[in-house]
Amino acid sequence: MTKIIDGKQIAGTIKEELRQKIAQMKEKGIEISLAVVQVGENPASSVYVNNKKKACEYVGIRSISYHLPEETLEQELLKLIHTLNEDQSVNGILVQLPLPAHIQEDRIIHAIAPKKDVDGFHPQNVGALCIGMPGFISCTPAGIIQLLKRSEISLCGKECVIVGRSNIVGKPMSMLLLREDATVTIAHSKTKDLKQVCKRADILIAAVGRPKMFTKDYVKEGAVVIDVGIHRMGDGTLCGDVDFCDVLSTCSAITPVPGGVGPMTIAMLMYNCVESNVLQRME
Ligand code: GUN
Repeated sequence: MTKIIDGKQIAGTIKEELRQKIAQMKEKGIEISLAVVQVGENPASSVYVNNKKKACEYVGIRSISYHLPEETLEQELLKLIHTLNEDQSVNGILVQLPLPAHIQEDRIIHAIAPKKDVDGFHPQNVGALCIGMPGFISCTPAGIIQLLKRSEISLCGKECVIVGRSNIVGKPMSMLLLREDATVTIAHSKTKDLKQVCKRADILIAAVGRPKMFTKDYVKEGAVVIDVGIHRMGDGTLCGDVDFCDVLSTCSAITPVPGGVGPMTIAMLMYNCVESNVLQRME
């Protein structure tokens, strides 16, 4: 029987653990806060931002919203970030991506103080992950590690193939799996014989952004399949990068879409917010 990895349930457990921890901190007079910055009206971003704010409310983190108009200048956004960097009452800063085309995302990411970078996108945090130093870890790959660990799927010595080399998922995912003593391959759009490369995987992580691309031709019998994609189809339903129905009988475990990786990203963001508060109190 193929195991369906229930990300919604595991994320619920993590949020519950955090809710209790945050309640204990509150009793000691400690309050955790997250500044959530959105620029423009990207509908998907609005959904994500709302879900993040709802999660904050649930676990007991104060979220402070900044919803700026599409025409906001890069300089204005940088100014807001500098203000938030200096504000002692703000622990975490999250700038929802993508930003409007006239704003350079890397300039914004670099401007966020590394100790408040709860997304784990700042080069200092990315570098820290690469060399095994403490720092914030990008929420989606951190969430995938939690999904695997809490589903008792061992990583030591396993062949892991990640398809997709983004800074947010593919690259940090490779570092986290390496840290768990897995053997890691990052494949991408230029990889030769992608199906054969994927078929080597004990754990296949699909993060390409193409709906239902991964059929059973890409999956080894008994492999674990982690689907990072999320796409809204013409009929309104959601699907991932993996053709779930096609691979279901081939793999031993799989994350569904929705309800797999997605909820974990938000749970790990809440985890990073708690860490940001701890870090700033240690200064
Ligand atoms: N856009 C899509 N995913 C993310 C994320 O994890 N963080 C931010 N800030 N923006 C995103």
